[in-house]
Amino acid sequence: TDLKNIRNFSIVAHIDHGKSTLADRLIQLTGTVAARDMKAQLLDNMDIERERGITIKANTVRIEYPAKDGQTYILNLIDTPGHVDFAYEVSRSMQAVEGSLLVVDASQGVEAQTLANVYQAIDADHEIVPVLNKVDLPAADCDRVAEQIEDVIGIDASDAVRISAKTGLGIPEVLEAIVTRLPAPKGDRDAPLKAMLVDSYYDAYLGVVVIIRVIDGVIRKGDKIKMMRTGGTYPVDRLGVFRPKMENIPELGPGEIGFLTASIKQVRDTRVGDTITHEKKPCAAALPGFKPAQPVVFCGLFPVDAAEFEDLRDAIEKLALNDASFSYEMETSAALGFGFRCGFLGLLHLEVIRDRLEREYDIDLITTAPSVIYHVYLRDGTMIELHNPADMPDMTLVDHIEEPRIKATILVPDEYLGDVLKLCQDRRGIQMDLTYAGTRAMVVYDLPLNEVVFDFYDRLKSVTKGYASFDYQMIGYREDFLVKMQVLVNDEPVDALSTMVHRDRAELRGRAMVEKLKELIPRHMFKIPIQAAIGGRVIARETLSAMRKDVTAKCYGGDATRKKKLLEKQKAGKKKMRQFGKVEIPQQAFINALKMD
Ligand code: GTP
Repeated sequence: TDLKNIRNFSIVAHIDHGKSTLADRLIQLTGTVAARDMKAQLLDNMDIERERGITIKANTVRIEYPAKDGQTYILNLIDTPGHVDFAYEVSRSMQAVEGSLLVVDASQGVEAQTLANVYQAIDADHEIVPVLNKVDLPAADCDRVAEQIEDVIGIDASDAVRISAKTGLGIPEVLEAIVTRLPAPKGDRDAPLKAMLVDSYYDAYLGVVVIIRVIDGVIRKGDKIKMMRTGGTYPVDRLGVFRPKMENIPELGPGEIGFLTASIKQVRDTRVGDTITHEKKPCAAALPGFKPAQPVVFCGLFPVDAAEFEDLRDAIEKLALNDASFSYEMETSAALGFGFRCGFLGLLHLEVIRDRLEREYDIDLITTAPSVIYHVYLRDGTMIELHNPADMPDMTLVDHIEEPRIKATILVPDEYLGDVLKLCQDRRGIQMDLTYAGTRAMVVYDLPLNEVVFDFYDRLKSVTKGYASFDYQMIGYREDFLVKMQVLVNDEPVDALSTMVHRDRAELRGRAMVEKLKELIPRHMFKIPIQAAIGGRVIARETLSAMRKDVTAKCYGGDATRKKKLLEKQKAGKKKMRQFGKVEIPQQAFINALKMD
């Protein structure tokens, strides 16, 4: 295809503003899918997801559109994930296209999530076409929202396309805008092959499917390709495009987006942002900006029921096949038995994986405190990378500890600024910058990653009513006064609740934690001391009093059916409990005890 007849774009939108509905309409109107095959929200690929138990992260679709100028254009839409944990994947998808549709619900206006993504599009030098959706709603106020787009985002919205993805109004105008307002890709067909690895996923039938954007040169079936960063070489055995069903084609040239399969065994061998070239005639330089996915948050995952360990292993191995950014290794804990220490890109990533293990694989899990990687310098000059507070060496051997710091950028409406500053200050943040854009403030903080991994994002959302956007990048390691805090329940240390904390905040955190645990652990027949300690020194203590006699008396009363019911209830409840010495701790306690509020 001639470059001038190609348009590559993504859709930037806040959740629920109508991204999927619009994509469906574009596909439908161009007859890419016969009407009878048209199911709502094709791009979500949920059937396949459910059927095969995999997630298709990025979706692309190729649309042929006969424009008003009499020429037929190929439009490639790339769908992008929308969360800060996947900011790098989003940035790569954005690099693979030349323009974006910015979809804003005309009854709601610009929201936080839109901002982070639209800035990524601006960073990628995109041409951006604002689209005001849901104009059929009585609450739609196009003029106000257009003005808001100009104020907040700073792009011209005077010729925003006004549509209703639901009724189909304005969809032909969107297609025309894509052709006339977005630029064609550039590229050299005669140059050596240079393609970007945009995404990949594991397919049970085809193996690893790699989504690529060709920059220069031509790729054909049978070609021997090389991944420039990982060094792997593979023969291409299938080349194609999504319409949105997979369709084989003989070659992909400059500006085109499609997929390849090449007997690649696992998703781990394909790194987002890698450069694909020909083995024999490679391009001179790899694409800039490649960053290998690096887990930054670690936690232990243990089955509530020790008998489910093998099931957990199978499930984790399956999930890892399709997720190169997720790492795991076996771990044993004195209190929790066998489990896995897992590494994630961020907290959402952690939650997604934990959720999938519980829902799709039906395994009840205990999640230990999320931790970052500390650099522990010993007196003998060696340094260890500490992923798990339980492995912390004796303090007498330690010279000093360094922790990872991030540069956090937060965009927030004026009225919530005070709360955001307080939140960052409470988390040991150092303010680096504060500027205004319209009625929004942009604050930049240097923060310890450790203070952000647990519930910073939740807190930020709650103090700003969802109106803040947050993005971060690692800036390096810095020394601070960090200690390991242990929790003892009934005088036994519960290693899964050990955390690294700043010495100055240890009392506060310790007290909050024992108070929480006191609420979360049910009463037993005896008194249970709950303590937080640093080294051998107790810094906070609560006592959970024993169950009152008359309560237990009821259980053992004369009513047999009632007694049975109670026993059954207890048995069911047990599944979610874990025995520590003589004490049973509910699964939920592990995660809730660590929340700070
Ligand atoms: P996620 O998939 O959750 O990211 O959301 P999305 O941005 O893809 O939004 P989606 O297309 O799923 O639409 C969200 C809701 O808005 C759905 O219930 C749609 O039916 C509805 N919707 C989308 N477009 C319109 C529109 O033009 N008018 C009205 N009234 N509703 C719409």
